[in-house]
Amino acid sequence: MDETQRILELATRLAREAGAIQRERWGSELEIGTKSAEVDLVTEVDRACEDLMVAAIQSERPDDAILAEEGGLRDRPGATFRWVIDPLDGTTNFAHAYPCFCVSIGVERGDEVVVGVVYNPILDELFHAVRGEGAFLNGEPIHASPETELDHSLIATGFAYDRRKSKRDNLSELASFLENARAIRRDGSAALDLCAVACGRLDGYWEFKLAPWDVSAGGLIVEEAGGRISDRTGGPAPPTGKEMVASNGGIHDAMLATLAAAGRDDAMGAPR
Ligand code: IPD
Ligand code: CA
Ligand code: CA
Repeated sequence: MDETQRILELATRLAREAGAIQRERWGSELEIGTKSAEVDLVTEVDRACEDLMVAAIQSERPDDAILAEEGGLRDRPGATFRWVIDPLDGTTNFAHAYPCFCVSIGVERGDEVVVGVVYNPILDELFHAVRGEGAFLNGEPIHASPETELDHSLIATGFAYDRRKSKRDNLSELASFLENARAIRRDGSAALDLCAVACGRLDGYWEFKLAPWDVSAGGLIVEEAGGRISDRTGGPAPPTGKEMVASNGGIHDAMLATLAAAGRDDAMGAPR
């Protein structure tokens, strides 16, 4: 079996194991703490999921580096592979028992994400992609939507945890999309938003100030489903997650134009 297949098998197993913890604890009483801001939450379930996955990777693949949201970087100098993990994407939803959250695992070789796995434990939906081999939902191939009109498109976005302090709060961009797309959603899990673009439930998604673990797996899954990811000017999507514009491809340029028009007087109605 080739190396990426072995990694995919381990990532799939770990996503399901962590997802089982989330399903079990969903709706139960939680210890809720805060991180970078009072709206940036963390629970003991985020940590339990991360601990389980990190321990398994360190035991089964001791030479791999790991970057995980709660514990940061566990570096291995000279490592060929680096795991980029969001143990629970959608913590605010989870803390409110709102059923939209997931486990997200991307694995990089050098500059490239080569394996992506995202598991939604409530719907029992497992998205995966291996670079060059397509994208799948519960083993069936998935494809981004064929839509070409922003006017007919369902688009999602999100808002960063520093929104109370920062002027870059995504509100002018939101106003521009509200005017130009069919409808906007804010689901609260960046990785699931990306997977929704990959399987055609959404036509596009944009967000700023994300982190590597939010976009690593989902970005690959979008690309492997025939979609496109970029920064807000159409350049490569940064692996940091600083800017993410994801689409089916057909509406991508219209999304970039909508973002470019945000905050301008001509934003309303201009970019279609
Ligand atoms: C958050 C979610 C949310 C997005 C935030 C992320 P977390 O991740 O993906 O949808 O808007 O920017 O930080 O904190 O739930 O892992
Ligand atoms: Ca996240
Ligand atoms: Ca998280």
